[in-house]
Amino acid sequence: MVVRRSREEWKIYGNVFDKFTIDVLQRLEARGHFDALASGIALGKEANVFTATPAKAGEDYVIVKIYRLENCNFKKMYEYLKFDPRYMHTKPSKRFVVFAWCQREYRNLLIAREAGLRCPTPLAFKDNVMVMSLIGDGKKGTAAKQLKDTAPKDPEAFSKLLLKDIKKLWKKGLVHGDLSAFNLLLYKEKPVFIDFSQSSPTSAPNAKELLKRDLKNVASYLKRHGVDIDMEKEFKSISTQ
Ligand SMILES: Nc1ncnc2c1ncn2[C@@H]1O[C@H](COP(=O)(O)OP(=O)(O)O)[C@@H](O)[C@H]1O
Ligand SMILES: [Mg+2]
Repeated sequence: MVVRRSREEWKIYGNVFDKFTIDVLQRLEARGHFDALASGIALGKEANVFTATPAKAGEDYVIVKIYRLENCNFKKMYEYLKFDPRYMHTKPSKRFVVFAWCQREYRNLLIAREAGLRCPTPLAFKDNVMVMSLIGDGKKGTAAKQLKDTAPKDPEAFSKLLLKDIKKLWKKGLVHGDLSAFNLLLYKEKPVFIDFSQSSPTSAPNAKELLKRDLKNVASYLKRHGVDIDMEKEFKSISTQ
């Protein structure tokens, strides 16, 4: 049985979120995507990320990513969207830009799943809120660590998986665009890609530039862990497949 939260219970979030966002959260909860926000795991530049308890007993915790309608760098977001052929006609209004940003991450995650990447499953989105599967222990609601806070036991094997995935994603027509030790999680010794809000189609005019930057970030992480990759060779092999 899905237990609905009363308006009173949602009011406690009033100090944290604006009324509009509380309404969106309430609708997603009413549709059975989660029960309640459990704990905050990150306060990012554009979004706040929470774990949320499952709507039904026995199901897994989920992740709720809430894009802020205020205090976000909406001008920078708009500049990024203009490069993406799918969003180049987005109106330059703060609200539209944030909604497009959220929708874009949801759609990018669908493509990444189709490409066979290890990444969260997008479960729902509405306006400025996205719900996705939790990478980590879904029963306890504990998220896997970011790569910046941990290290793979076998960096060589890890690097092979990572490069293979970047290649698979490009082949499916997408480049991550913000790949770093912050946006990669280590789960069961394998890389899991998260944060697809800056991902663009490979047809975008800046796609190759984004790929280069992703490879550079990955290479510098791997170097610190004793693995040297030939950036130029990888770039060619990925972008000309
Ligand atoms: N699906 C997920 N499973 C587990 N942890 C997650 C998930 N999504 C995000 N996180 C955690 O929240 C942090 C912020 O999420 P991210 O999508 O990178 O947002 P931001 O755009 O603010 O950087 C991540 O670095 C990660 O630690
Ligand atoms: Mg991030």
